[in-house]
Amino acid sequence: MFAPERHRQLAGLLDVHPASRVVDLGCGSGHTLTEIMARLEVAGVLVGVDARRQRAPDALVGDPRLRLIVADLDQPLPFAAGQFDRAVCHNVLECLAEPDAFLAEVWRVLAPGGLFVLGHSDFDTIVFTSDNLALTRRLVHCYCDTTQKWMRRSDGTTGRRIAGVAARSPFAIDRVHAWVNVLTSLEPGSSGHEAAHAVAHVGRRDPRIGDHAVDGWLAGLERLARDNAFLYSVNDYAVLARKSP
Ligand SMILES: C[S@@+](CC[C@H](N)C(=O)[O-])C[C@H]1O[C@@H](n2cnc3c(N)ncnc32)[C@H](O)[C@@H]1O
Repeated sequence: MFAPERHRQLAGLLDVHPASRVVDLGCGSGHTLTEIMARLEVAGVLVGVDARRQRAPDALVGDPRLRLIVADLDQPLPFAAGQFDRAVCHNVLECLAEPDAFLAEVWRVLAPGGLFVLGHSDFDTIVFTSDNLALTRRLVHCYCDTTQKWMRRSDGTTGRRIAGVAARSPFAIDRVHAWVNVLTSLEPGSSGHEAAHAVAHVGRRDPRIGDHAVDGWLAGLERLARDNAFLYSVNDYAVLARKSP
């Protein structure tokens, strides 16, 4: 979450070829789609799937290689067997009722030799530099443990579980990657600002924390940022899985 580099890293792991047929499962607003498309040429095909209707990202509006589909990933995927060469799914698995059934479906729609990148942040590993360590811990745990309005279910520690989910799937596992991207800006529009305010938003709605404490926490982060002492990071994990040729 909140790390632009993450989408480049996911697209890099996918190792797409200029004419690959690629699907992004739970594409959201399409940051990963943009990174993947940059690696495709005219014969490539890119499909984004999400439960909610999504607009194409600005850079891809009108691109004939992109198709956006509304579908529920808790149901069989609306694709033929072997239809794709590459599949990616990032920060979605925690919302799914049956992760094992989902991975079996991804395996089905990939061609033999196809690659699947299953990525997830582990929200219990969020770090903010703050003078109030106790409140930071409470806010991070609250964020990690909160099922947000757009989710049917959640598990903020899914990042540490994806290797196990992949290991019991039909895929062969090439490697488990871990990334920590460090962000030091709290400027509006930056990823650090977005992360701090997402965590603050959840804290405000928790009666054990509330507005007053959250306002003080944010003001503390601003002070540290003015002294160039602000830091935000989260651990992100990704499994590179392969369907045997
Ligand atoms: C945290 S966002 C991640 C978006 C994108 N993959 C990324 O990394 O930026 C999770 C996305 O999964 C979608 N999603 C959650 N449950 C879903 C389901 N059962 N079927 C399809 N999409 C789902 C949500 O609508 C949302 O866009």
